[in-house]
Amino acid sequence: MKETDQIDMSRLTVKCGTKSSYDIIYKQSFEALPAEVSLLYPDKVRICVITDSNVDPLYSQEVTDKLESISSSVMKYVIPAGEEHKNLDEINKIYRFLIENKFDRKTLLVALGGGVVGDMTGYVAATFLRGVDFVQIPTTLLAQVDSSIGGKTGVDFEGFKNMIGAFKMPVLVYVNLSTLNSLPGRQFVSGFAEVMKSALLKDENFYVWLIDHSYEIRDMDLDTLSEMVYRCDDIKRMIVEKDPYEKKDRALLNLGHTLGHAIEKYYDFKFLHGECVALGCVAAAFISWKKEFLSKEEFYEIRDMFVLFGLPISMDLADTARIVELTKNDKKMASGHVKFILLKKIGKAFINEEVTDEEMSAALDELNFAEGD
Ligand code: GLY
Repeated sequence: MKETDQIDMSRLTVKCGTKSSYDIIYKQSFEALPAEVSLLYPDKVRICVITDSNVDPLYSQEVTDKLESISSSVMKYVIPAGEEHKNLDEINKIYRFLIENKFDRKTLLVALGGGVVGDMTGYVAATFLRGVDFVQIPTTLLAQVDSSIGGKTGVDFEGFKNMIGAFKMPVLVYVNLSTLNSLPGRQFVSGFAEVMKSALLKDENFYVWLIDHSYEIRDMDLDTLSEMVYRCDDIKRMIVEKDPYEKKDRALLNLGHTLGHAIEKYYDFKFLHGECVALGCVAAAFISWKKEFLSKEEFYEIRDMFVLFGLPISMDLADTARIVELTKNDKKMASGHVKFILLKKIGKAFINEEVTDEEMSAALDELNFAEGD
């Protein structure tokens, strides 16, 4: 019998300290959304759905129609799609919309979209009238397995990713797996990098499960995807419950992100976040091998896993010194040292503050030459 056979994978509860919690609901449609929201707000609440110009034509109508049955009024605000709009100017426009339409402290915001929409809506929820409630409806794989959970919200600032923000927990995360069907293939694969990251850092059994289910995952079998997203979220749940404000172990979730973010910035966000995280994970595994935490075989095994799921393991990184320099601007710095996440083995990550610039350069060189192996 599989260890997961007995587990109800339709709902996960994330505890926030001893007093509060929120549920993540796993469905294959929006049917149950009104019932889930009205459980939290039996008296009709005013709702503003915040979405982006990509998601708006796909799901806004259905979601607002469903919410109208349990709300006193539902309005919609559409952000222009893309990371380049994840900034304070766009946040100001949302504040203005809410003020002009007389939303008050009892307002419920609903983030309908991917990571950018979730992070921005959450930031508005954290700050508008000193805080209003918000629901996450993540429609991308990346948002379903990572950004919609754990309450990190915010915007980019002058080229620095997520530099301005706040911790603000959602009151509900509603995952409709079928939204993954509308996701462009490259976006799905990019989100998968965060799935790999979660398995690598915490759960070897899940890593093996991913290999065993690679066909079903690539065929977008919704039951398999549902289990995959649930298992990923459960890993994140364990980590954020223990360390909600990233004082310690939550930093493990940044596996692949130190060099990943630097590569993302070096290419001026031309490549998708997950593609850069995949490269960052391969680089972290390489450094782990060179520091003799991982064996050579484990390094190549990890690298090949990214290939199996269509993620990049090499890139023409012309100016590696510049990329190393860019890691110094990362939020993950600890008093002048880069807080690097390395692997002891598959399923066991740890924080290491002794990764040198030379070790990072060597890992970037490995990415430059990976195709030649
Ligand atoms: N995405 C990493 C975290 O939520 O901590």
